[in-house]
Amino acid sequence: MRFSITQLKEMKRRGEKIPMLTAYDYPTARIVDAAGVPLILVGDSLGMVVLGYDSTIPVTMDVMVHHTAAVSRGAKNALVIADMPFMSYQISIEQTMHNAARLMQEGGAQAVKLEGGVTVADTVRRIVDCGIPVMGHIGLTPQSIHQFGGFKAQGKTLATAAKLIDDAIALEQAGAFAVVVETVPAELSEMMCRKVSIPVIGIGAGAGCDGQVQVISDMFGLYTDFIPRHAKRYAQLADIMTEAISHYVNEVKSGAFPTAKESLSMDKDILTKLESLSCE
Ligand code: KIV
Repeated sequence: MRFSITQLKEMKRRGEKIPMLTAYDYPTARIVDAAGVPLILVGDSLGMVVLGYDSTIPVTMDVMVHHTAAVSRGAKNALVIADMPFMSYQISIEQTMHNAARLMQEGGAQAVKLEGGVTVADTVRRIVDCGIPVMGHIGLTPQSIHQFGGFKAQGKTLATAAKLIDDAIALEQAGAFAVVVETVPAELSEMMCRKVSIPVIGIGAGAGCDGQVQVISDMFGLYTDFIPRHAKRYAQLADIMTEAISHYVNEVKSGAFPTAKESLSMDKDILTKLESLSCE
């Protein structure tokens, strides 16, 4: 059975830590799902780590729907959460609802995520009222990097820390089922976990959060343009891939690949007839 937001809330109640991971395509989603990760995020980080943009801002609804649908085809047990991209939930409530619905209907997601706290609380409430589970995202919200002046830590002053607590409370009151908090001091996210009853999933927010999320490409060393301090390298897949590719190139050049095993052979009679035909 697919993991549900009810089970997620239970995990927080029991004090059980929640792992969440991003995925952007079918094969990766299958692996993450089979490994038992309960929450898969189709993050708009795909704009950077898969599509090579320098921020998440160029990511469109069509791109999100395309990748979400691929992940949904691969994830049979995890709850699939799709990011609402830049300006897809700010222009009008009609457009917001239409976009959230596309991620569910065309993308096959079970929930959506959007950035912001107090300022998006009404929007969150409207989406939740339509039966769509919403995850919030506060702290370093990458869609606002130009407002922040770059990928900078948030909540380091009294005023900004207090504002982030208010944001988390506003999201809970608006009906969000969980909140991601990115790149804030560990003490602040720990306090946030005590102030709200919904799970607080951290990234670069310390060990006191109810759960953790990582960008899968950072975990595997597949994206090196920008390595956030909070990213932990669990495997160096880029090195393994480079070695395998060099092996392939050498085998093609030397003629060692393909062998008979990787080739098709023709029926001898047909071959003989073909040869005599081509002699005529
Ligand atoms: O887009 C994303 O991958 C995210 C995570 C960093 C939480 O929002």
